[in-house]
Amino acid sequence: MTEIHDEAADDPQHPEEHIAPVPRISVQAFCETEQTLKAVTAAGEDRRLAKAHLTAKSGGLAAAIEVYETMPTPNVIVIESDGTRDILEGLDDLAGVCDPGTRVVVIGNPNDTAPYRELVRRGVNDYVVGPVETIDVVRSICSLFSASEAIITGRIIAVVGAKGGVGASTVAHNVAWTIARDLALDSVVIDLDLAFGTAGLDYNQDPAQGIANAVLSPDRPDTALMERLLAKCSEHLSLLAAPATLDRVYDFGAEAFDAIFDTLRMTTPCIVLDVPHQWSAWTKRALVNADDIVIVAEPDLANLRNTKNMLSVLKTARPNDRPPLYCINQVGMHKRAEIDVKSFAKTMESQPLAVIPFDSKLFSTAANNGQMIAEVSKSHRTTELFQNMANRLAGRGEVRKPKRSLLGPLLKRLKARTGRGSAPHRKAS
Ligand SMILES: Nc1ncnc2c1ncn2[C@@H]1O[C@H](COP(=O)(O)OP(=O)(O)OP(=O)(O)O)[C@@H](O)[C@H]1O
Ligand SMILES: [Mg+2]
Repeated sequence: MTEIHDEAADDPQHPEEHIAPVPRISVQAFCETEQTLKAVTAAGEDRRLAKAHLTAKSGGLAAAIEVYETMPTPNVIVIESDGTRDILEGLDDLAGVCDPGTRVVVIGNPNDTAPYRELVRRGVNDYVVGPVETIDVVRSICSLFSASEAIITGRIIAVVGAKGGVGASTVAHNVAWTIARDLALDSVVIDLDLAFGTAGLDYNQDPAQGIANAVLSPDRPDTALMERLLAKCSEHLSLLAAPATLDRVYDFGAEAFDAIFDTLRMTTPCIVLDVPHQWSAWTKRALVNADDIVIVAEPDLANLRNTKNMLSVLKTARPNDRPPLYCINQVGMHKRAEIDVKSFAKTMESQPLAVIPFDSKLFSTAANNGQMIAEVSKSHRTTELFQNMANRLAGRGEVRKPKRSLLGPLLKRLKARTGRGSAPHRKAS
């Protein structure tokens, strides 16, 4: 399929855009400028192109034509135009040596004059005007695979605690439930705490199978298997529950969950990972490869240190993503000395996604009844906090309750008395 990237439609620095990872493909780039060569090489290191085999060289169109005269073409060719040669003529020459299945991305020069229509006719799949940043290259290559195969490419939101017991699972379950209910987005929670996970309890579910069957199965998971293992919690929410039994121990390799995540994201727009508080190859990988990360912390010194360390490692591993988000939970516990939110934010050099008050009655009622906070109290401030988090994480803006006017009720009564504001009388016809 041929399509041209509408560069006006998206802001290259937009932090919340969703770029889906590519499958195992080969990409070869022929650049004209140092900057493009650097951007393309760095794109090869991006998490979304981790499965791709990418090489970048100099020489532009001329070099590409020369190489492919004697070699088969890869899945994707990226060509930079330097604006001096007629790009259409060059593409015609390339077409002569290009295998039919190969997709072509052109990094254009502002001096190019070729109309889009002509580029499309020559089989160009995406055209990006240079100079490009790393993220532009990532986006362009990924768009060739997500848009053309008409499959859903779900967003993964990973939630993890900066320490054990801080409320990370509670936050993950409430946020996922809210995304599913308020935004009507089909969502799946994966409880990755296989031995002790509480998602089944929190959603009042008792599924016989779940994540353990998927990860321990000798076969590669497919959509049918995942469908069988999911427990339906509400109209738009399903759960891949943890067995929470101790008859075996759970040690996993770094890539143990990759195929499960890949399979699920083909059918599910939103996947929330409840990641246990541990630092192992597979937990780190689940965090690094997520579209968004939320670290849940309590306002004390150990949480402050751990959050800072996690932010720093994850930022370095994801240079082309928005930084991980964090929320401070259980704030205002009676008689506890706490680090105030302002100091916490200063150390993190960013504001928290949410500050959730400590409320033992509300949270323990929810936990013991197998309910969400919104089910215990629809109008509670914490319910609203989870709604805001859900909106931010699903890529929507913040919802604010309309401010209630103190004069509102009085004005309403006055209007009722004078007849103003009520339905206009119908004119006799
Ligand atoms: N804001 C809050 N106020 C009061 N209690 C809370 C709050 N948030 C969570 N809790 C309670 O804290 C306890 C621990 O929560 P949760 O199991 O979600 O933490 P966790 O970080 O996932 O723990 P673990 O490390 O065991 O996975 C639960 O009983 C939960 O109800
Ligand atoms: Mg937990």
